[in-house]
Amino acid sequence: MTALFNSLKIKDITLKNRIGMAPMCQYSAVDGVMNDWHRHHLGARAMGGAALIICEATAVCPEGRISPGCVGLWNDAQMQAVAPINAFIESMCAVPAIQIGHSGRKGSANVPWDGGAHIADDDPQGWPTYSPTAEAFDPDGTRLWKTPKEMSLYDIATMKNHFVATAKRALECGYKILELHAAHGYLQHSFLTPLINTRTDAYGGDLRSRARFLLETAEAVRAVWPEHLPLAARISIHDWIDGGHGLDENIQIAKWLKEAGVDMVDCSGGGATPKARGSIGERTSSQVDLAGELRAATGLTTMAVGYITDPKQANSLIESGTCDITLLGRQLLRDPYWPTRAAQELGVDPKPHMPVQYHVVAS
Ligand SMILES: Cc1cc2nc3c(=O)[nH]c(=O)nc-3n(C[C@H](O)[C@H](O)[C@H](O)COP(=O)(O)O)c2cc1C
Repeated sequence: MTALFNSLKIKDITLKNRIGMAPMCQYSAVDGVMNDWHRHHLGARAMGGAALIICEATAVCPEGRISPGCVGLWNDAQMQAVAPINAFIESMCAVPAIQIGHSGRKGSANVPWDGGAHIADDDPQGWPTYSPTAEAFDPDGTRLWKTPKEMSLYDIATMKNHFVATAKRALECGYKILELHAAHGYLQHSFLTPLINTRTDAYGGDLRSRARFLLETAEAVRAVWPEHLPLAARISIHDWIDGGHGLDENIQIAKWLKEAGVDMVDCSGGGATPKARGSIGERTSSQVDLAGELRAATGLTTMAVGYITDPKQANSLIESGTCDITLLGRQLLRDPYWPTRAAQELGVDPKPHMPVQYHVVAS
C-alpha cells in the first residue's frame, strides 16, 4: 500500500497525492506584493511533486501583516503579481491554496533576520496592532512588543469585511482552496483562546462566544467562496500550556466550523503566548496524533503537520487514517523534490507526480 500517492477529491478539487506544502512566510514581499522570490519558491515545490501548495500567511489588510515583508491581498497589484504564479502551479498539476489572516498583536514586527521583535513605535515602517484585549504579546519580555488596540465591535465588523474582500480577490487570482489562519496566536486564534481573550462582550466569555468572531468570519467567507471549492481552517489543536485549549475544545470548534461551511481542518499548534510551545513545535508526534483524534471525531478532511520528514512516516499517517493530507514545512524547504524521492523510496512510479520534462530521470 502506498496511500501517500493516492489521489484525493475534495469538492471539485482533486489532489494527485497526499503531500502538501505547509504555509510558510518568506518575509520577502514589498508592499505585500509577491515577486521573483515567491515565483521560484512556490513554483519549485509544485515542480517537485507536492499536490497542494499553500501560500504563506497572506494579510487581509496592511496592518494584518506580521512584518513589512509579508504578503497581502488587499489590492490589484498584489493580485496581478500572484495570478501567473498560481497559473504556473496549476500547470504543474498542483493546486494553489492561500492562507488568509491577520497578525493581531504579533504584527508590526521586523523580519526574523532583523531580530523579529516589534518595530519601534516611532519608526514609520510600523503600524498599530489589534487584539481582543489591550495586552501586549510579551509585556515582561526582553523583546518588546506593541500594546495592541482592543478591538471595538466596529473593528470586528470591519475585519470580517476584510476577510471577505480578500477571499473574493483570492478567487479572482486563481486560488482553488482558501484557508483561514486561526492558529499560532494571531488575530483569529487570539479571540479563540482564553489565554488572550478576556473580553466580557459577545465576543468573549465561554467557548462559543470566543469562537464567534471566527465562526462569523467563516460563514461570511463561505458565502463568497464558491461551494464547489474547499474552504479550510488552520487551528492550534493544542495551546500546549495550562489555561489554554486542548483537544476537546478544538474538536468542538472544528464541529462548529463544519456547520459554518468549512470542509478541511489544518491541525497545527501552539503560539498563543511567549511561554506556550512555539508554532513550529517540537520534535514530537503528539500534534499529528491529535489531528487523527480530531479527524475521527469530526469527519472533516484533515491535514496533519509537524516534523513529517520521512516517506514511510508520511505514508503510514495516511494509511492509518490519522490524516487525509500530510503537510510538510521545513522538509520541503530543504528538498523541493521530496515528493519525487518519496515516490521512488516507496516503490511508486514518480512520473505522474513530476513534470514531463524530468521523466527521463525516473527511467
Ligand atoms: C519559515 C517558516 C514560515 C512559516 N510561516 C507560516 C505561515 O505563514 N503560516 C502558518 O500557519 N504557519 C507558518 N509556519 C509553520 C509551518 O506551516 C509548519 O506548521 C511548521 O513549520 C511545522 O511543520 P514542519 O515541522 O514540517 O516544518 C512557518 C514555518 C516556517 C519554518
